[in-house]
Amino acid sequence: MSYEKTDQFVFPKWVNYLLPLIVVSVLAGATTVPPLVMYGGSAETLNVGYQPDQPVPYSHATHVGKLGMDCKSCHNTVDKASFAAIPPTQMCINCHAPGKDLKGLPTNMPGVHQASLNLRPVWESYFSGESIPWKKVHDLPDYAYFSHDAHVNKGVGCVSCHGRVDKMGGAGTNDAVAGVYQAKNLSMGWCLECHRAPEKHLRPLDQITSMDWSPLHDPRVIAAIEQGEVEEGDKQAAQLWLGTRLKQEYEINNPAYMQSCSTCHR
Ligand code: HEC
Ligand code: HEC
Ligand code: HEC
Ligand code: HEC
Ligand code: HEC
Repeated sequence: MSYEKTDQFVFPKWVNYLLPLIVVSVLAGATTVPPLVMYGGSAETLNVGYQPDQPVPYSHATHVGKLGMDCKSCHNTVDKASFAAIPPTQMCINCHAPGKDLKGLPTNMPGVHQASLNLRPVWESYFSGESIPWKKVHDLPDYAYFSHDAHVNKGVGCVSCHGRVDKMGGAGTNDAVAGVYQAKNLSMGWCLECHRAPEKHLRPLDQITSMDWSPLHDPRVIAAIEQGEVEEGDKQAAQLWLGTRLKQEYEINNPAYMQSCSTCHR
């Protein structure tokens, strides 16, 4: 699949590319180095808002927000592998077959004409067998190790790292202009902030792809509110109450491991 990096996405500090490799190889194996080095020192890697023009004006707001599709129906490796797969063209053709009526969710959408949807690059890809050249939005430097399954199987939801994807792209056939943008900066400081206190972010495993889940909706929290253990309407307290329990349930690694250099620089 051609899902490639673009010239536009150049890491701002190419010059320093070798430095981390050296630091990392020196520190490899040293798991108890205090994690104060470099923290907050990489503000230049902020790419919040990065939103490349995509070859198809495919909108998550339409497919997720409006049609209600689950993230995993397209990004189907996200809980099994380190990377989240971008769906192949055939996935789109299931609904957007050329010359056929549009198949929507939950029923066919008679009012919508395929011809009005800017699907030409999708059909070209279908006939030629070549992948749609989607542009990569998120891209960590190679010396930082990241894995999706390690997160989504331990209660970290997509929205914690990618924001409200279900609202990206504009809802509706004609105002869908662009794809996903980067909602968080993906800096080391950002990773560490959560690794220090994951209880602030953990959720039940069946809510991983939900974009509007709130700890206040959780049955256990509702019971705790009734018991007077959590104050009604206090979302932060509810998250901490639940997150602390989930942290134990999921047997989250200890803080030293979560912050050690070799966890992310292997
Ligand atoms: C489950 C069926 C389904 C699948 C799968 C699907 N689509 Fe759609 N798509 C729709 C429907 C229905 C609409 C029209 C929604 C509307 O206008 O209300 C639509 C609209 C669109 C549009 C118009 C702009 C927008 O997003 O609103 C584009 C472009 C598009 N789809 C591309 C794709 C691509 C690319 C894929 C594969 C990655 C895909 N679709 C997968 C059902 C689907
Ligand atoms: C803990 C943070 C985090 C969570 C949770 C997370 N992602 Fe990601 N995602 C990332 C990072 C970081 C990258 C960039 C990875 C890289 O460049 O190596 C990324 C990249 C992606 C990509 C591009 C392909 C790839 O793997 O590089 C897709 C698609 C994606 N994420 C979808 C999802 C979906 C869907 C979910 C929820 C089921 C999810 N992500 C949960 C942080 C996260
Ligand atoms: C119908 C298929 C489909 C569904 C459902 C879907 N996506 Fe996507 N997603 C795509 C396609 C196609 C792209 C590439 C175009 C783009 O980046 O806008 C993409 C791109 C992304 C990216 C950016 C990847 C990168 O290059 O870094 C993220 C993050 C992402 N999706 C998250 C999600 C999340 C979270 C959900 C559920 C809330 C979801 N997606 C549901 C098809 C889908
Ligand atoms: C919102 C919270 C959150 C964010 C943000 C986050 N992580 Fe994590 N990370 C976790 C949790 C929770 C685990 C699961 C730990 C466990 O299995 O005990 C984890 C596990 C990992 C692991 C696997 C550790 C192992 O050996 O099992 C790696 C590697 C990792 N994270 C790297 C990163 C990187 C790199 C970033 C930033 C790009 C990042 N994480 C951002 C919460 C987060
Ligand atoms: C939770 C994951 C995580 C842990 C733990 C971690 N790093 Fe990083 N580190 C990253 C990510 C992601 C980047 C790339 C983004 C950036 O530059 O902020 C990075 C970048 C770096 C860089 C390059 C910074 C720059 O400005 O270009 C150095 C050097 C570095 N880390 C050293 C360390 C050392 C030393 C430790 C242990 C004290 C450590 N890291 C622990 C995730 C982590």
